[in-house]
Amino acid sequence: MRIAQISDIHLKPKGARAYAAADTAAALRMVVRHLNRLVPAPDVVILTGDIADGGQRESYDLARELLQPLAVPLFMVPGNHDHKGLLAASFPGHTYLRQDPDGPTGGFICYTVEDYAVRLIGLDTATPGDHGGGLCDVRLAWLDATLQARPETPTLIFMHHPPFASAVGHMDLEPFKRRAALKTIVQRHPQVKRLTCGHIHRPITLRFGGSVATVCPGVGMQIPMDLRPEASSGFVLGPPGMLVHFWCTRWGDPPALLTHLELVEDYEGQFGGFHPFYDVENPADRQQVTGGGLGPTPFSLL
Ligand SMILES: [Fe+2]
Repeated sequence: MRIAQISDIHLKPKGARAYAAADTAAALRMVVRHLNRLVPAPDVVILTGDIADGGQRESYDLARELLQPLAVPLFMVPGNHDHKGLLAASFPGHTYLRQDPDGPTGGFICYTVEDYAVRLIGLDTATPGDHGGGLCDVRLAWLDATLQARPETPTLIFMHHPPFASAVGHMDLEPFKRRAALKTIVQRHPQVKRLTCGHIHRPITLRFGGSVATVCPGVGMQIPMDLRPEASSGFVLGPPGMLVHFWCTRWGDPPALLTHLELVEDYEGQFGGFHPFYDVENPADRQQVTGGGLGPTPFSLL
């Protein structure tokens, strides 16, 4: 099982740059091309919110156009920049985006994907007008009951807001609501192998409720690691990033979720490669290359 995660695209309507600086459409094109070339290919792509920057319908239509070449299924959760109704309108095939306000999710975009070795739970942490995100009684009860239904199945929860302070001051101004209640639920269900989020636009890892929480870098913009409380709010342009989660065994050890940070290094063409691990100008050095004599791969996908 291979799960590729991308996050925080911040698309604007065609031709416009985000914050007059970031060509987020170009970054997404590059990321989709990279996802389609990954070896091994992912089984599924999850997108953890802030698909559009200003929540306009034209931006979601552009998102549909740019994501359409993806070779594998895509599942999304909304972020604080998203307009849920317009997102759902631009992606009519994604029926999970239209939740019944009178149903068990209270109309929030919370759902499960049951088709894979790892169960995926999309959790909507976005409340209109709220930057910091959080949960409520309805979503917490839904999550607890949903986890209770399949206690033996390894599970990954994906959501936009991380339920912890990131130490990036300007991103921590509004605490995640009901994070203690979420932690208690995760603690109760050890099949939760990961909570994985977006929102902070840089890779972060933290132990959470006995599980592991990760944050995926952004597609279109990255936030620098300036941890001074007075750090100004802003971003840098850099290689788009993604997380790739593998449910696998390594050297025969028990199954676990192994996560790689993958940068799309050909961004703006400044990085070259692939370069082999031997001196190409010295043919005798070629014997240093590994791979041939190691026997079967010690890594098995489940
Ligand atoms: Fe974002």
